[in-house]
Amino acid sequence: MVSLQKADLKIYELIKQEEKRQQDVLEMIPSENYASKAVMEALGSVLTNKYSEGYPKKRYYQGNKFVDDVEILACERAKKLFGVPYVNVQPYSGSPANTAIYFALLEPFKDKIMGLSLAFGGHLTHGSSVSFSGKYFKIVSYELDKDGFLDYDAIEKLAVSEKPKIIVCGATAYPRIIDFKRFGEIVDKVGCYLLADISHITGLIIAGVHPSPVPYVDIIMTTTHKTLRGPRGAMIMVTEKGLKKDSELGIKIDKAIIPGLQGGPHDNQTAAIAVALLEASRPSFKKYGEQVVKNAKVLAGKLTEFGFDLVSGGTDNHLLLIDLTNKKVNGAVAALALEIAGIVVNKNAVPNDKMPRFYPSGIRLGTPAITTRGMKEKEMMQIAKWINEAVNEVGGLELPQNLEERKIFWKEARARISENKNLLKISQEVKTLCSKFPLS
Ligand SMILES: Cc1ncc(COP(=O)(O)O)c(C=O)c1O
Repeated sequence: MVSLQKADLKIYELIKQEEKRQQDVLEMIPSENYASKAVMEALGSVLTNKYSEGYPKKRYYQGNKFVDDVEILACERAKKLFGVPYVNVQPYSGSPANTAIYFALLEPFKDKIMGLSLAFGGHLTHGSSVSFSGKYFKIVSYELDKDGFLDYDAIEKLAVSEKPKIIVCGATAYPRIIDFKRFGEIVDKVGCYLLADISHITGLIIAGVHPSPVPYVDIIMTTTHKTLRGPRGAMIMVTEKGLKKDSELGIKIDKAIIPGLQGGPHDNQTAAIAVALLEASRPSFKKYGEQVVKNAKVLAGKLTEFGFDLVSGGTDNHLLLIDLTNKKVNGAVAALALEIAGIVVNKNAVPNDKMPRFYPSGIRLGTPAITTRGMKEKEMMQIAKWINEAVNEVGGLELPQNLEERKIFWKEARARISENKNLLKISQEVKTLCSKFPLS
């Protein structure tokens, strides 16, 4: 067979360039990570050639002798690791997985989803009006309190008055522990389903550094490519509690995935998920999860010393949400400056943000990927210093309110930031540090 390099030089070179970029920068987007060589090998295997609509031993296609075993193994590993009786490993990714759960349990245009507002750290699929979840279902959103924490009494009051069919707990930009037990009590009072979307914190739950939702919720959805360090993908799990509430829950989820939403599962992805689950069951993964949180806490402490305003005042998990209002710099500008400095984060809305979504007031950053590289507390101190220097470099570059002025400002700022000598100097120092932590 012809190699990629020979078959398509352009794509080969782009991949090589991306490989070098990933090596030379600090990847601090909290939803990103580095999958292992073993995970990538499974993902790039011959399993990509196979069609296997259906479930193990009940397929619509022939030739699934080995694929069945792969899927069974992936499910068994997930069941054991999380302590749940039912797993579906076929969702293509997190958004289709949440879609399938809603399709399995809710009636469109009639039933209500209650989730954390997108503006306060929830995911698009938790009932945002711009996503299918808000278009096809009734929605009610809860928010954070003035200090940036989940307000469980307010959530309970809202749930009692709104009577949703499902409550979603879990977030995409929440730096604190989620009290799944308290959510379970609320749901028991209301009599609806409870879905824990643990996409961001799965690895921390496996490592024992975040409480598990398993005893308290009915359904769990997780992506497999964030703190779990697997391939892009997702899993849906049903708990004992969920099966007690509705013994058909697993069957409903299976049917919602296929024929409801998807066709053939991505068997190469299933195999890679199985590999990631095996890796996550080892003692070294526990150490990894512990270090992710230690690193985030050190980073949070040092950035606070530098005068950064952390939403909720710190972190309990893998991520930090920083409100840059006091630094007089917009999140989009800061994220660009940090990228030029070799530190890759994302701009992010902060609670009660007055700025538009494309120019939010904050940035979100996290430690899962840099911890995978082996970086520890010492490196976090240095990274905090670089972040401080890079953001100070663009401090005062506030965004004009007027849209036309904003366009001109952004064009000029982009050019200036891209050529800023101090930022480029930091990027060289970052590169030197990264070279000591090669991606294996
Ligand atoms: C909490 C949460 N749920 C669901 C998703 C959706 O996952 P995907 O991007 O794989 O569709 C994300 C992704 O960022 C997420 O953070």
